[in-house]
Amino acid sequence: MEEKKRAGRNRTITLSEAEKETLKKRLIEVRGDFDTASGLLNQQDFLDHTINADLLTALPLLPDEFADLIIIDPPYNLTKNFNGKIFTARDEASYEEYLMSWFPQVCKKLKPSGSLYMCGDWKCTAALQRAMESELSILNRITWQREKGRGAKANWKNGMEDIWFGVKDPDNYYFDIEAVKQKRRVIAPYRENGKPKDWEESEDGNFRLTCPSNFWDDISVPFWSMPENTDHPTQKPEKLYAKLILASSRPGDVVFDPFLGSGTASVVAKKLGRHWCGVELNEEYCMLAEKRLELAETDKEIQGYSDGVFWERNSAALYKK
Ligand SMILES: C[S@@+](CC[C@H](N)C(=O)[O-])C[C@H]1O[C@@H](n2cnc3c(N)ncnc32)[C@H](O)[C@@H]1O
Repeated sequence: MEEKKRAGRNRTITLSEAEKETLKKRLIEVRGDFDTASGLLNQQDFLDHTINADLLTALPLLPDEFADLIIIDPPYNLTKNFNGKIFTARDEASYEEYLMSWFPQVCKKLKPSGSLYMCGDWKCTAALQRAMESELSILNRITWQREKGRGAKANWKNGMEDIWFGVKDPDNYYFDIEAVKQKRRVIAPYRENGKPKDWEESEDGNFRLTCPSNFWDDISVPFWSMPENTDHPTQKPEKLYAKLILASSRPGDVVFDPFLGSGTASVVAKKLGRHWCGVELNEEYCMLAEKRLELAETDKEIQGYSDGVFWERNSAALYKK
């Protein structure tokens, strides 16, 4: 990755040449001729590991139904340079063909009681929905108001993303709403017999714990002053993945990310006491993921999540007290 000049307060995670030497050794490198006695990787070889491979080469080596939760953040239908490997925008039919070249195989890796989330923008969301419907029961579509985004001269700025939520069996899946409650300021503090009704009074203001909806406006994209930030061009926020992982997996479960990028899914899984496995084509991104995993040995903090609750945007000063 290109060396950049950075401001003093910039906390972007980077890799030195010496670190690359060490981190590279932790990767499982799967090339076309990879061979194992059973034709499959053993659980101890891929669990809590990063696989540096093309997804289509790695998938046949992973056992079916190993994952409790799969989080997919695929290349969107945009031209994007992933550290030298360019994904090119294509017509809708070709993008759908691309999705269907791997999506059914990824779903095979999900346990019968498992859940799967897939991210996209307005342009590819229709194709994602059709792919989801072909393999799973869709239970929801979350809209994440991303805030940051490039303004366009003759169009509306793209400020949102979709996250499709599907399961294999709508009568048998895990969902923990208590684990993803949101702490919000109370606008109308009603009282009953003089006491707060469903809210708490504190020195810092009045708050209520609420059940989250499918509209998420409390999460910023990682930026240079955040300790989770890397130079990956489409890195997802840890807070966003923390919601998915806490709601749809138990401690000790396995989280699988077939397009790992800078490692967000694995890192958050580790911080929250889950097992992880990620596949990523680009070696440098794999090493970034490994560096973040190493940092997560000692730093389990997830910005915006503290004391078991998710805080509104811009309330860091309160929860850090
Ligand atoms: C949208 S990004 C994922 C970003 C990730 N969620 C994060 O937080 O950093 C998609 C990633 O898929 C990787 N990728 C693209 N094609 C791939 C393939 N065939 N096999 C494995 N990884 C691939 C790209 O290198 C890129 O890092």
